Amino acid sequence: MTYQANETRYDSMKYNRCGKSGLKLPAVSLGLWHNFGGVDNFENSRAIVHRAFDMGITHFDLANNYGPPPGSAEENFGKILKQDLGLYRDELVISTKAGYLMWPGPYGEWGSRKYVLASLDQSLKRIGIDHVDIFYSHRPDPDTPLTETMMALDYAVRSGKALYAGISNYPPDMAKEAIGILRQLGTPCLIHQPRYSMFDRWVEDGLLDVLEEEGVGCIPFSPLAQGLLTNRYLNGIPEGSRATREVFLKKADVDAAHGKILKLNKIAEKRGQSLAQMALAWIIKDKRITSVLIGASSVKQLDDNVEMLKNCQFTADELKDIEEVLNS
Ligand SMILES: NC(=O)c1ccc[n+]([C@@H]2O[C@H](COP(=O)([O-])OP(=O)(O)OC[C@H]3O[C@@H](n4cnc5c(N)ncnc54)[C@H](OP(=O)(O)O)[C@@H]3O)[C@@H](O)[C@H]2O)c1
Repeated sequence: MTYQANETRYDSMKYNRCGKSGLKLPAVSLGLWHNFGGVDNFENSRAIVHRAFDMGITHFDLANNYGPPPGSAEENFGKILKQDLGLYRDELVISTKAGYLMWPGPYGEWGSRKYVLASLDQSLKRIGIDHVDIFYSHRPDPDTPLTETMMALDYAVRSGKALYAGISNYPPDMAKEAIGILRQLGTPCLIHQPRYSMFDRWVEDGLLDVLEEEGVGCIPFSPLAQGLLTNRYLNGIPEGSRATREVFLKKADVDAAHGKILKLNKIAEKRGQSLAQMALAWIIKDKRITSVLIGASSVKQLDDNVEMLKNCQFTADELKDIEEVLNS
């Protein structure tokens, strides 16, 4: 089957400027952490990527270690690019990251120049492209000088292997310092990628203020708390769901959140939305947020999530009701 992109793909997606940069990102971006690895059904992964692009999702987020096995999500995305989306390369924003363990020995993880730049070369080879659009330091390294990691990002951009630099999982103080170093080097930090959802609100405690002051975009990951903030676990733990794998999301997490999920679902129903839609709208309503970075295991989930764009407004009463549940 030859893929041809939907001609109406830009009609309904919203695009937000990323901080004070020239780059706009779709309000919903697709992450390939789960469901795109070598162990997953390739045709399902391919269908999700097609559907995403057909709905105006131009941004696809990867990392060196996504799979499993590590590296296979980049390989699979590269395959889809070659087969189907290659013609549209200039309509896509492809990101990848380096920071977590990729190969044995002292140069296979964290933030040294040695690791970061070797990892980028490996990622480009796996995806089959000559540059990514955004290259991230995936996590702060407590032992490498921050300047060294930022100089590696700066070099990645100067060498043409990345168009923009980003940071992920950096706490507010370190983010501010990293942003300052990058600015001095002449490669402004484009974006920060932190975890943020109704169930995990650490970014509200300083990070979002730093990003606003510095003119840096923000793309929260796991905005659905890995599926907790959806209808997935309303009635227990279904076969095939992430919580059955007990690695990143555990049965205990589902049990702990279940009472809140039921109450939030009631509020979403009153708004005429699914819980997933409400959880995403609740994040994107903040003007400091550029895009929500979702995952999906089916086209149906993706469709459900993008529908949230039809209602991102909240009344004061709705916000109050949500706060009461979250603080209960
Ligand atoms: N920078 C970092 O350190 C970091 C860390 C983690 C993630 N990320 C990025 O963020 C992306 C998203 O993370 P995430 O996958 O945890 O995000 P998420 O959107 O919070 O969770 C996605 C999961 O929720 C379930 N889901 C999604 N939409 C649904 C719907 N409408 N109805 C029912 N269930 C639904 C699916 O679970 P099932 O699989 O059970 O169906 C899906 O796999 C990743 O792919 C990655 O690109 C970055």
